[in-house]
Amino acid sequence: MPLTPVSPPLFHVIDPRVFDRAQLDDLCDLTNRVRLLAKHPDGARFLLGLLPDRRAMLYFVQPSTRTFLSFSNACHVLGIRTSEIRDPSTSSEVKGESFEDSIRTFSSYVDVIVMRTPDSGKAARAAELMNRIPRPVPIINAGSGQDQHPTQALLDIYTLERSFENQGGIDGKVIGLMGDLKRGRTVRSLCYLMKNYRDVRLVMIAPQQFAIEPDIKAHLREQNISFVENAQLARVLPELDAVYVTRMQSEWDTDGETGRVDYRDYSITPENLGAMKKTAVIMHPLPRGPEIHPAVDDDPRAVYWRQERNGMWMRAAILVKLFQADGLVRNFDLSALQ
Ligand code: NCD
Repeated sequence: MPLTPVSPPLFHVIDPRVFDRAQLDDLCDLTNRVRLLAKHPDGARFLLGLLPDRRAMLYFVQPSTRTFLSFSNACHVLGIRTSEIRDPSTSSEVKGESFEDSIRTFSSYVDVIVMRTPDSGKAARAAELMNRIPRPVPIINAGSGQDQHPTQALLDIYTLERSFENQGGIDGKVIGLMGDLKRGRTVRSLCYLMKNYRDVRLVMIAPQQFAIEPDIKAHLREQNISFVENAQLARVLPELDAVYVTRMQSEWDTDGETGRVDYRDYSITPENLGAMKKTAVIMHPLPRGPEIHPAVDDDPRAVYWRQERNGMWMRAAILVKLFQADGLVRNFDLSALQ
């Protein structure tokens, strides 16, 4: 097992803009391999023996179900042992320890820190700190305030690529982005990855008060990514190859803004399924609110439960890549498992 530090392109995972197409294709291929290996007892045992000398810190001081569980289980799939802080009141930060000192402390004991915080920019601050200390460990941003959620965007890309496997992949697709595009970080990160795909068209379906922020629009324009805003769901649904639904982020309300949204305009229901392409997919980073009716779950185009599970495989692939075990995974002859 190589013990040398990982090379720059996948050291910290903070900003989705650093990923190029080759890296995304590579990560999707690695994710497929990890998923297929894990299905078979011999493959699963191989994965378990891959990184038993590595330890991960899961520092999640903002509510999380999927991201936390998928990272923790991705670690367990690979034999990585984990420690965690989920409640900031149990951390020495309550004694006045600075954020930087806390992160430096975590880094003393583990080989990677996965972190989710309610504030934007905290993961980036942790990465900057790592770049200044003698024994840096990689920082993975598992959601930073309203700002970014890069590993969610990576698993979303994997889910889109898998869904369009027989339709030429993501290139050329029309992707609807619906819901709270202002305060939700998942769509912001996904928009950053779209520069890697040819002729993609983005269709934003959001209440005016929760429209996508100007910084993301500026990025899309700079990268020549075609997008329209203020689309009406009923009008655009028949054109969409994918609709990426998000919930209203009511935890950020200051005076009941979410209550003023007419959910009917931003929801997928059994009634509007008929207007969708047969080959289209419905995605959601979850958790969902009223924006996807539970009866939609039975439609084959609803891929959000698979997307959720893909999160574990993609996060395992990211860890494999970080710790440079990707060569070992690639060398495993998958056909030997059949
Ligand atoms: C998302 C998040 O936390 O940003 N959830 C997740 O990680 N799957 C989306 C959300 O909370 O709406």
